[in-house]
Amino acid sequence: MGLTREQAAGKIMVALDYANAESAEKLLNELQGIPCYMKVGMQLFYAAGPAFIESLKKRGYLVFLDVKMHDIPNTVKGGANSVTKLGVDMFNVHAAGGSAMMEAALEGADAALASGQARPSVIAVTQLTSTSAQVLNEEIGIAGSVEEAVVRYAKLANKAGLSGVVASPVEVQAIKEACGTSFQTVTPGIRPAWAETNDQSRIMTPKDALLQGTDYMVIGRPITAAAEPRAALESIIEELI
Ligand code: C5P
Repeated sequence: MGLTREQAAGKIMVALDYANAESAEKLLNELQGIPCYMKVGMQLFYAAGPAFIESLKKRGYLVFLDVKMHDIPNTVKGGANSVTKLGVDMFNVHAAGGSAMMEAALEGADAALASGQARPSVIAVTQLTSTSAQVLNEEIGIAGSVEEAVVRYAKLANKAGLSGVVASPVEVQAIKEACGTSFQTVTPGIRPAWAETNDQSRIMTPKDALLQGTDYMVIGRPITAAAEPRAALESIIEELI
């Protein structure tokens, strides 16, 4: 599909959904030398903290800290400031926090930059992929379809100056149409044809997600729960080149 092996690896964000640093490091040792992005979510970050981010950076990885900040602007500004000092390359906030909160995240990140350090990409969570239309309408109280809500949040994030959004691969085209092709999409819900679906519902294969125009694909269990994680990652890369 026109990508080099390195470009394909760089589009894959491995979700390190582990309870502790030891388990995550076991996987890192198996995947050594493959230049993919590493995603650290709340489970691992709350357990292993800044020291684990530091060890990923020492190993040379780009790091997406997926802690989905959602609080008053001043608090998010402080959170953004702290994670930028850790040297992460990307982190996220909920678009539902509103534009003042998203702008505060950018301000907090900018205020923490060391000389020569680029600002991390700040991206917004639109609507969690686990949210059904029924939950959206009846529990959260937002009218309309999930896609309409996602596109509205994406536009708000774009206007606030964020780099992109987390969304389902099925929403990529609508987001790119509304916000432009350089507005990035980070898509979980990726399942190679040979992998189990698990609890993800609106799924797409890596190749199809790439054809939709996604910038990064978050992939967890198809790699982390595979009998041979390195072979699983390599076969996904193969599918993308
Ligand atoms: O194992 P799996 O490939 O389903 O992992 C998907 C990862 O993407 C998990 O870390 C999950 O928390 C994250 N994620 C998601 N849906 C969202 C946002 C993040 O699945 N809307």
